[in-house]
Amino acid sequence: MFQLLNRLNPDPILGLMSKFRADPSATKVDLGVGVFRDLSGNTPILDCVRRAEQTVLAGQATKSYVSAAGREEFNVAVEALVLGASHPARAGRRTRTVQAPGGCGALRVGAELIRAAVPTATVHVSDPTWGNHMPLLGSSGLRLERYPYYDATNHELQFEAMLERLDTAQAGDVVLLHACCHNPSGADLAAPQWQSLIELLQRRRLVPFLDLAYQGFGDDLESDAAGVRQVAEQLPEVLIATSFSKNLGLYRERVGALIVIGETEARADAAYSHVLQIARSIYSMPPDHGAAIAACILADPGLRDSWLAELAVMRNRIKAMRTLFAQHLRASTGDASYGFIENQRGMFSLLGAPATVVERLRERHHIYMTSDSRMNLAGIMPHNVEYVAAAIAAERNEATATAMIA
Ligand SMILES: Cc1ncc(COP(=O)(O)O)c(C=O)c1O
Repeated sequence: MFQLLNRLNPDPILGLMSKFRADPSATKVDLGVGVFRDLSGNTPILDCVRRAEQTVLAGQATKSYVSAAGREEFNVAVEALVLGASHPARAGRRTRTVQAPGGCGALRVGAELIRAAVPTATVHVSDPTWGNHMPLLGSSGLRLERYPYYDATNHELQFEAMLERLDTAQAGDVVLLHACCHNPSGADLAAPQWQSLIELLQRRRLVPFLDLAYQGFGDDLESDAAGVRQVAEQLPEVLIATSFSKNLGLYRERVGALIVIGETEARADAAYSHVLQIARSIYSMPPDHGAAIAACILADPGLRDSWLAELAVMRNRIKAMRTLFAQHLRASTGDASYGFIENQRGMFSLLGAPATVVERLRERHHIYMTSDSRMNLAGIMPHNVEYVAAAIAAERNEATATAMIA
């Protein structure tokens, strides 16, 4: 059987991770993989997670199955965290939430739900977008198309072009939106832009699918969910995939959720019955341990307060690095235009360099980023920020000189 299979190239991000691990250089810098790193370069277990984990283990009486929807108290807490305690869609009993194996699991179940409901629907995905969006959604068999979102060379959101493209979508199509901290660009929509987009979605009868993987990494938990809440207040049908990989540092525990909002209670129930069947047919039930930890933190005011404090430390560390990195880039290149790195949000920004420069940064300077020049700002430390900026300046100068000669 396997003689029919050709060997595939590794996933670009996972492939980059193994190249980085194999690089013996003492000065190597990992800006590739999307995990938070503290000042020592570690991806720490949060203190609130350690404490909640002890409580979970102490209180656990069985390892028996939970359910295809996961933990009920987790699902209720997630809805409140994402939509706010008194969101009209919740008050109208139009929301249904299932725990999922990470944000990826939620995206995939959401895609299968779309396929079950409207097999002919196209999902419109931002250009650029996170490398795993296309495989996750496309594997369900749905058609995917890209809409313009961000111009990496000029470091500009392409909002007008985005609206123009979405205005040509078919009624019933789905638009995948990054709720905050856009991956890979760090460029988010402002509140008035969300509003214009909502009006277009209403007019064209398009369904938003919001990916909220970085709640709390931009400004704070509430502000980062503002776009999602605005959308969910004004549109009849919404899907939301959320994740605790980053904001609780629960990456390997696989903790996420899919929130589905229906136009009526009955339609939400019908969608929910499909979601349960989809989950059952793919992985049966989501893993429990991480969701139990998250639920414990969300329910306990003391643990929740320490989470908020730890989340602020992570967020501020990234923001501080953005400012420092932009300063060093300006100093090294003599170019005053690195404000975008300072102003963008979340872990990522696109340097806007061609793949050849990205490759030289890796081969000559041991600085690793994905080929689209996405940089994880949490991979930069006070001790290497100058090194990274100087390397970028050197390669930028060489690229400019080569272009001038050519
Ligand atoms: C934009 C985006 N969505 C979803 C995810 C899913 O994360 P996970 O499945 O690890 O929760 C990620 C993780 O990197 C992401 O960047």
